[in-house]
Amino acid sequence: MAVQKTHSEGTGLNNFWMPFTANRQYKATPRLLVKAQGMYYTDVEGNSVLDSTAGLWCCNAGHSRQEITEAVSRQISELDYAPTFQMGHPLPFELAERLADMAPGDLNHVFFTNSGSESGDTALKIALAYQRARGHSNRTMFIGRELGYHGTGFGGISVGGMVNNRKAFNSQLLPSVAHLPHTLDIERNAFSKGLPEHGIEKADYLEHLIAQHGAENIAAVMVEPMSGSGGVVLPPVGYLKRLREITAKHDILLIFDEVITAFGRVGDAFAAQRWGVVPDMITTAKALTNGAIPMGAVIVSEKIYDACMQAPEDTIELFHGYTYSGHPVAAAAALATMDIYRDDKLFERSREMEMEWQDAVHSLADLPNVIDVRNTGLIAGIQFAPSEEGVGKRGYDVFTQCFYDGLLVRASGDIIAMSPPLIIESKHIDQIVSTLEKAIRNAI
Ligand SMILES: Cc1ncc(COP(=O)(O)O)c(C=O)c1O
Repeated sequence: MAVQKTHSEGTGLNNFWMPFTANRQYKATPRLLVKAQGMYYTDVEGNSVLDSTAGLWCCNAGHSRQEITEAVSRQISELDYAPTFQMGHPLPFELAERLADMAPGDLNHVFFTNSGSESGDTALKIALAYQRARGHSNRTMFIGRELGYHGTGFGGISVGGMVNNRKAFNSQLLPSVAHLPHTLDIERNAFSKGLPEHGIEKADYLEHLIAQHGAENIAAVMVEPMSGSGGVVLPPVGYLKRLREITAKHDILLIFDEVITAFGRVGDAFAAQRWGVVPDMITTAKALTNGAIPMGAVIVSEKIYDACMQAPEDTIELFHGYTYSGHPVAAAAALATMDIYRDDKLFERSREMEMEWQDAVHSLADLPNVIDVRNTGLIAGIQFAPSEEGVGKRGYDVFTQCFYDGLLVRASGDIIAMSPPLIIESKHIDQIVSTLEKAIRNAI
C-alpha cells in the first residue's frame, strides 16, 4: 500500500516542522513575514512590523541591504561553490584577514562554520585539540554556565545551561562538564542601568570548580559575555575580567560565545573589546553576514593555532570541517557586511544610541507586573512576574499583542528581549516604547 502523505490540510503550513516553536499553536494563528527593508518587516497582510530584534540578533545593519544583495548575486554567478578541503578560493582568506584585524589581542586565525551552534562545537573541539597537541591530554573537561546558550549541537547543549534544551537529551550529553552559577540576580540588581553592580563573586565559583575537579583536567571555560537566550543575563561589573584572571592562572582556555554580541551589539566589534577582556577564542555567526546567508566563524589565538601546527607539514592538523566552511557566497555576504559596518560607522552609532535606548526602556519600569528592566549596548530585557495562568503566559501575550500592533519583540518565558538593528533612530525607539507600554498594560 502506498504511504499516505499528509499535506497542509488547507493551511499550507503543516509540513514544515518549525524550530523552537509550539507548532500547533503557531499554525492555528500564524504570523508570516514576507518582506523586509531597513527597520521594518512586512507581514503577509501587508502590515508594517517594526523589528526590535534584528530578526534573531542577526540583521545589525538593517534589512535587505543593497550592498549585500549585490555582492551575493555577483558572487553566485561568478563562483557558486568551491570546496575548502585541500582546495581553496580567495574570499575566506580575505574575510579571515579582515576578522583577525577586527578581533582583540592575537586572535588571528579563523575557522569557518555555518551557524552559531557549529561555531560552539568547533571551539570545543579546537580546545581539546589544543590541549592534546601541547601534551595536556588529561584536560578534557569543559566548564559552562547555568542559563548559557551555545546552540543545539551536543557540545553546545552540554556546556550550555538551558534546562529545556538539555532535558530530553540528558542521557547523551558530553560526559565531563560542570557549570558556573548564572549571574541573574534580580533581588540585588533589579532595574540596573548598564552592567549590574552586584555579582562579581559569582566568577570566584570557578576557583571552587577548579579545586573540585583539578585544573589539570579542565580544557576550557565557555561563556557568553552577555547571554541573550537565557533571558538577557548581563555580566556584573568586573565579572568577565575575574574569569579571565582565574582561567589564565590555571592555564585553562577561555572561550567567549559572541554569536549575538559580536559586530556592534554592545558598541564595539566584539563584547570582549567593550568589556576589556581578551579570551582565547571567540565564536560568531548571525550578524557576520547581517543574517543574509548562513555563516559562522571561530576566531582563535596564535597560541592555539601554533600548538596545533606542530605536526609534520603533510599532516591534517584538525580532523574537523564542514562542506560549506568558507562558502564563497557567504564570504561575499560577510565582506559586504563588514564594509557596511565600517563605512556607516555602525559600531560607533550603536554606542551613540545606547543612552537614549537605556532611558527609553527604563521608562517602562513602573508598568504593572514589570519586575526588572535591564540593558546594555543596544540590548534590553523586560521581565514580568509570572501570571497566575502560568509561567511564560504574560511574556507570550505581550509578544503577540506587540506583533498585532506592528512591533516584533522576542519573548523568552516572561522576559521580553530586544536587540534592534544598529541603524535605529529616535522615532523607532518611541514606537517601540509606546507599543510595548500598551501591550504590557493589556496583558493579564
Ligand atoms: C550565544 C549563542 N550561541 C549560539 C547560538 C546558536 O546559533 P545558531 O542558531 O546559528 O546555531 C545562539 C543563537 O541564538 C546564541 O545566542
